[in-house]
Amino acid sequence: MLLKKTLVVAGLALAQRSLASLQIVPGGSWTASGTNQHVQAHGGGMDMDQSIRCVSCIFELTSLPLGIIEIDSVYYWIGENKLNGSSFQSVNCYSSTNLVEWTFVGELLSLESSGDLGPNRIVERPKVIYNEATSTYVMWMHIDNSSYGEAKTGVATGSSVCGKYNYLGSFQPLGFQSRDMGLFKDDDGSAYLLSEDRPNGLRIDRLTDDYTNVTSNTYLWSEHIEAPAIYKQDGVYFMFGSQLTGWATNDNKYSAATSLSGPWSSWANFAPTGTNTYNSQTAFILGVGPNVMYMGDRWLSSNLMASTYIWLPLTLSGTSANLTNEDSWVISQQEAWTTSPTQTAPEAESSSNTLSNGAVTLSCSGCSGSKSVGYIGGSSDGALQFNGITSNATTKTTVQVRYENGDSTQRYATVTVNGNSQILSFIPSTNGITPFSSTLNVELNAGAANVITISGYEGGWGPDVDRLLVPEL
Ligand SMILES: *[C@@H]1O[C@H](CO)[C@@H](O)[C@H](O)[C@H]1NC(C)=O
Ligand SMILES: *[C@@H]1O[C@H](CO)[C@@H](O)[C@H](O)[C@H]1NC(C)=O
Ligand SMILES: *[C@@H]1O[C@H](CO)[C@@H](O)[C@H](O)[C@H]1NC(C)=O
Ligand SMILES: *[C@@H]1O[C@H](CO)[C@@H](O)[C@H](O)[C@H]1NC(C)=O
Ligand SMILES: *[C@@H]1O[C@H](CO)[C@@H](O)[C@H](O)[C@H]1NC(C)=O
Repeated sequence: MLLKKTLVVAGLALAQRSLASLQIVPGGSWTASGTNQHVQAHGGGMDMDQSIRCVSCIFELTSLPLGIIEIDSVYYWIGENKLNGSSFQSVNCYSSTNLVEWTFVGELLSLESSGDLGPNRIVERPKVIYNEATSTYVMWMHIDNSSYGEAKTGVATGSSVCGKYNYLGSFQPLGFQSRDMGLFKDDDGSAYLLSEDRPNGLRIDRLTDDYTNVTSNTYLWSEHIEAPAIYKQDGVYFMFGSQLTGWATNDNKYSAATSLSGPWSSWANFAPTGTNTYNSQTAFILGVGPNVMYMGDRWLSSNLMASTYIWLPLTLSGTSANLTNEDSWVISQQEAWTTSPTQTAPEAESSSNTLSNGAVTLSCSGCSGSKSVGYIGGSSDGALQFNGITSNATTKTTVQVRYENGDSTQRYATVTVNGNSQILSFIPSTNGITPFSSTLNVELNAGAANVITISGYEGGWGPDVDRLLVPEL
């Protein structure tokens, strides 16, 4: 398992180096199991639970175990469901043990008939922190009407991170406007609301001990920055956020300080100037073992459900921050992240493939070799079978399916690898990048005999497939 941390107590040594090459593919279609749809957790945040398990313990886990323990980490990704436009539909929660394979767990807040969570309301950027004193998970979110004129924060509480939350209500924190917001919980248990106050600037406001209200202002920047997220490393606080350009991206900024009340360094870019933060907006910053991961959103304002997730490695050193762009990368809790493995790129139109039931080769100007295979699925269930896919290892890995989908809604396909099937989602490929990638997380066998078949799902049309990108290891 990629993110399993193995600890050895009482001097026993065990080095188990993971060769897994599950990859994060920024900007791809990420299919969630449980819904078979592209993950709907936009503007989100992340929480983690760890449980300790004895693998071969002499004593039980009551006090200090003697033996080998493993720490199982479960990540919970909480964000906005945008399946039906900008209005509130639900706050969703997904879980994963490796940050690549996500399972839909449930709606933490659901659409109600009226009120803040009713029709045509704005509920954005939900963030959750845990309050030890009350044993309660506390969610804060931006609450607004459809013209963004109310500018409030809402608060909800729950007894489990990924269970139902009880909505408490909304208000303007300390009487100031609040739109894009974030939360930060410090090492000493004090917690803070990060809030974009349009007339005055960006605020850090201290939360009450139970985290359900604000007590006082800690810092105010007069500069206008939204989508705020704080991360702390080695006693240095980093505040990240974007400039105010609506759904369009810009060069996001950061500022650093050794105290939340300042002085804070002047705002600077953390991605190369002019890349618009690799075309993304800050949502959250997550520590993963020795790594720090930037979680951004690439909004597609004309079709918000097809907005993608730009997760990239962030290097924090002293008081400086630097974001690296990767087509795909491997994250680990034990080791430094690595860039995309070497990949083979079998073409859909290759003569070694088998096309059946109406699937045909098409011309495709954006595709590799200027060709794709289309008419996959449909009533005759057209299918594209890649034969002889190679892998140097028997391993679970991430294959990218490069595709086009010119519709405004998701397409689906049944993808069968060596006899095992799963459903993949293919969001519209209309975000300025063609072809798109849909990620297929799958077991491959060592050798050249892997067979990957892409066929229809429930009679609908699948995507036009350009090629696969298959890790060699
Ligand atoms: C989508 O939202 C619109 C209003 O924004 C509403 O009329 C419609 O019923 C919603 N559709 C679904 C499937 O929720
Ligand atoms: C949103 O709220 C503001 C402030 O109350 C109000 O001026 C505006 O008319 C409201 N917009 C809509 C669409 O209700
Ligand atoms: C939150 O704090 C404000 C300012 O101290 C106070 O006026 C308000 O009543 C508090 N809200 C709740 C729900 O306690
Ligand atoms: C960020 O890292 C890249 C690659 O290592 C380097 O070229 C660039 O100069 C760094 N940028 C900053 C602002 O440190
Ligand atoms: C996979 O195996 C092939 C054939 O032995 C070799 O050429 C290639 O370098 C290997 N790839 C990796 C990443 O080790």
